[in-house]
Order: sequence, then C-alpha cells, then structure tokens
Amino acid sequence: MNPSRKPLIAANWKMYKTVAEAVSFIKSIQEETGPCADLEVVIAPPFTALKAVGDNLTQQGFSLAAQNCHWEEKGAFTGEVSPIMLSDLGCNYVIVGHSERRQLFGETDETVRRKAAAVLAAGMVPVVCVGEVLEQREQGKTFEVVGRQVEGALSGLSARQAELLVIAYEPVWAIGTGRTATAAQAQEVHALIRKTLAALFNKEVEKKGRILYGGSVKPDNIDLLMAEPDIDGVLVGGASLEVGSFKRLVQFKS
Ligand code: PGA
Repeated sequence: MNPSRKPLIAANWKMYKTVAEAVSFIKSIQEETGPCADLEVVIAPPFTALKAVGDNLTQQGFSLAAQNCHWEEKGAFTGEVSPIMLSDLGCNYVIVGHSERRQLFGETDETVRRKAAAVLAAGMVPVVCVGEVLEQREQGKTFEVVGRQVEGALSGLSARQAELLVIAYEPVWAIGTGRTATAAQAQEVHALIRKTLAALFNKEVEKKGRILYGGSVKPDNIDLLMAEPDIDGVLVGGASLEVGSFKRLVQFKS
C-alpha cells in the first residue's frame, strides 16, 4: 500500500448468508473492530440482504456494496436490478465484471464497460474485476489479457471518473482455489494496471486509482500482499464469511 491511497478491504459474500446470518455477522464484526478511521471496509452481501446490512452498518469506515447490476436505469429487464435502485438502498460501491459473472453469466468487456459507466452515473463507485485464467498465465499472456480488460472496461470514462473507480485484479486461477498469487506476482500486475491508467488517462489517475488484489486472500497472506506498493486493498470471498478471519484481514499489518 501507499499511504496516499486509503486502503480498502472488501468482502464479496457471493451467494451466501440469509438476512439473519448477514445481520448477525455485521453486528459482530463492527463490535470486534470498532471504528475504522484509516481504511474502508466494504461489505457486498447478496441483493436480498443489502437493506438489512445497510441498516446495521453504523461503525465508522464501513460501507455497503452490491455484487452486480444492470446498466439501464429501468425497463423491461426481468430479474435485473439497476444502479439507481442500489444507490437508493444506500450502496456506495458495486462490483462489476467478477470472473464468475464473466465465466458463468456471459459478461464481456463491453457489458462490464456499460455497467461501470452506469454505476458512476448513479453516483456510486464501480469495483471493476479483471484477471487472467491459468492457461493465459501459462502462455505468458497475463499482461495482454489484463491490459485489454482494463482498457475495455474504462473506455469512454473521464479522468475524474477513472480516478474514483476501483480495479480489482483477481487471477481466475486463484479464486476459491486456495492458490494465491505471490505478493510479487500480484504487485507485477498491479504495476502494469497503474501504467495502463497513466496511458489511458493521466498521472493523476495513475497516482490516485485504487487497485485491489483478490483470489484466496487469507489471514496468513494479507500482510505480505498489503506490503506491496501498488496493492491498495483486497477483495475477499471465502475468508470474508467468518467474523474471525475477516477481522484479521481488516486488521492487516503493513
Ligand atoms: P476467494 O474469492 O477469496 O474465495 O478466492 C475472491 C473473489 O471471488 O472475489
């Protein structure tokens, strides 16, 4: 991390937790950590628990995120939820383009771009996920793939919008597998993403843009990851579901 950027620890609960489970977690974690003045803790529950979690986020530093959205404001899109509806519920962030959405639900760089722009237009911050699959890494295509995803998702945005946006580098081979990228492997890609931001926008975006790492982040690897200069936080699935492990992530030592 770099002290000029506020660290962000984000919990992606995926399709886990009922409303009661979510509320009980959120009460305990806030009690355990107390106020978080120097970092942001972002909780992304399933849609069904957004309202209840939002109503119970009272501790300083905690905020609410959705895991997905549609890019239109409203319309005949059965089963979809619009950015404006999420902002209405108190969301500050929306995760877009998670690899599970890309792989299982057919999302492309173009739909991710539309979603990111729509989230910004609704006054929230998109957390844009990018990352290569194992085959691409083994073929030495990581930089090419990630660079293309970043460019695709951010095209058409203003520098001001790009500065607000958060990018999450999540190598697909590290998600839910227990196989984390080493801190050095992650840093290398984060540095590339930062350079891409400079090329697409300007030095200011390069300096201010926050880039998270995701993929099997656990209490035993967070400190090393957060020690890297271009890793500004983490996006966590599995280890965000238990109060004990998530508390340790929030209390990372840099
Ligand atoms: P994981 O998931 O921490 O369980 O690997 C990360 C993610 O999918 O965002």
